[in-house]
Amino acid sequence: MRFTFVTLFRNIVEGYFSDSILKRAIQNNHISIDFVSPRDFSTNKHKKTDDTAFGGGAGMLMTPQPLYDALDAIKKASPQAHIVFLTPVAKPFVQNDAKRLAKKEHIVFVSGRYEGIDERIVELFADEVFSIGDYILTGGELASMVLCDAISRNVEGVLGNSDSLTEESFNESLLEAPSFTKPQNFHSLTPPKEFLKGNHSKIRSLKFALSITKTKYFRPEQLRKHNSMEKLS
Ligand code: ADE
Repeated sequence: MRFTFVTLFRNIVEGYFSDSILKRAIQNNHISIDFVSPRDFSTNKHKKTDDTAFGGGAGMLMTPQPLYDALDAIKKASPQAHIVFLTPVAKPFVQNDAKRLAKKEHIVFVSGRYEGIDERIVELFADEVFSIGDYILTGGELASMVLCDAISRNVEGVLGNSDSLTEESFNESLLEAPSFTKPQNFHSLTPPKEFLKGNHSKIRSLKFALSITKTKYFRPEQLRKHNSMEKLS
């Protein structure tokens, strides 16, 4: 699967892929990443990519021309490219989106900088628009890395053990049960007894109960979603 980052700041993004699981995913050809800078497409003699907003307001916006030409070139070379914009003014990105997008061939992340992007570019090119949460970042790069990471781990072969994907948070809307490793006794705290014995059906039902408790405490709306899905099934 291919990811293209349209950004003025590729250095911010590149480092994330130089270690650990995503580095290995690139080496093993499960994913590939590349970069396009809108600045390279600017027809302005100073290669400018920002300007003041019509109607006033603080800060600068990314001008449409460099982004238009960059995205037009990407679309011409890769017509199936799925173009995703990152902005706080959008629906929240969730795990089901990560799973769904992992089936695409080529995803293009467009990261806004300054105070955002001229809205006409979003209208002309966006297949989808996502926010990663109700707070404002200094730019969309971090958000596009979050999406890329969450999508990549759902791409076949990226995680060595595909079981890691079946027992994790947000499957059936529930948060994952807590887990424990050695030593058995740590600062006088021990894992639940059932975890230490080998009775798998007991472990499974305890994990389910703990998962319900965690979800009820931290994310009651997710538990309501889980319960309503159960009723339908
Ligand atoms: N750009 C700035 N803030 C953002 C957010 N919360 N989500 C996605 N993109 C952003």
